[in-house]
Amino acid sequence: MANSAKEAEQALTEQVVASFAQTPDARLRTLMQGLVRHLHAFVREAEPTEAEWMAAIRFLTATGQKCDDLVRQEFILLSDTLGVSMLVDAINHRLATGATDTTVFGPFYIEGMPERGYGENMAFTPGTPALVQGRVLDTEGCPIPNAVLDVWQTADNGMYSGQDTAQPHGNLRGRYRTDAEGRYAITTIVPVSYPIPTDGPVGRMLAATGRHPWRPAHLHFMITAPQHRTLVTHLFDERDPYLASDAVFGVKPALMVAYRERAAGDEPARRFGFDGAYREARYDFVLDRG
Ligand code: BEZ
Ligand code: FE
Repeated sequence: MANSAKEAEQALTEQVVASFAQTPDARLRTLMQGLVRHLHAFVREAEPTEAEWMAAIRFLTATGQKCDDLVRQEFILLSDTLGVSMLVDAINHRLATGATDTTVFGPFYIEGMPERGYGENMAFTPGTPALVQGRVLDTEGCPIPNAVLDVWQTADNGMYSGQDTAQPHGNLRGRYRTDAEGRYAITTIVPVSYPIPTDGPVGRMLAATGRHPWRPAHLHFMITAPQHRTLVTHLFDERDPYLASDAVFGVKPALMVAYRERAAGDEPARRFGFDGAYREARYDFVLDRG
């Protein structure tokens, strides 16, 4: 390319950057000018044809059109599958304080789910019965009583209640509280691996690039306690085949649990009402001071 053409392209970038110079909010100014520089650098490197540019516009348009007010947020799914959600998570939790690792929130949380008692069952569809229990602690190792654990997971068909309208209200969702010693207990089913939604532009992007849509089996947690930083995380089944290739890059080594076999009729089985054999996972969460 002739030098003068290159100079004109560079001048265009500088002109657009300069157009934001009077932005009153300094942070917005930095973000807009940085975005323009990086976006222009990408376009300069990729040299898209006009047809490719139009295809990108159509893809982003379809991504917005796939969103609804209830359960579908295709832009978050796009951010997740491009690893941007986990990069934002990493940047915002850089300090190693001893608190439990965070991971993606995901699009399937529903507010206001039923409050459940200590060890109460939240599974109203079939699966392998499981007891998940442990403590919520602060970074000094002191138990946090009355912390709220908002928990959600898919049914055995790989779908969340809300997403799958055939499931009973509040299935595999609930809000549990820690007792005076910071203990929590949840009766549920062992989670399964499941594919993220593929019936939209993100699914087409995964198919076109030869990527699979699967997430390793996990249980979601959002844990809140006064004077502590809210923790959004998952517990992953340590034996899941998709741990190394999570479609949204959310796996962290410190978030693994084993679902160990427990015999029918043992003390926890009697206490929590398991009829036969069941699995048990144990995990202690650590919250940062807020
Ligand atoms: C989830 O785990 O619920 C999830 C996270 C990111 C994208 C899709 C689903
Ligand atoms: Fe999930």
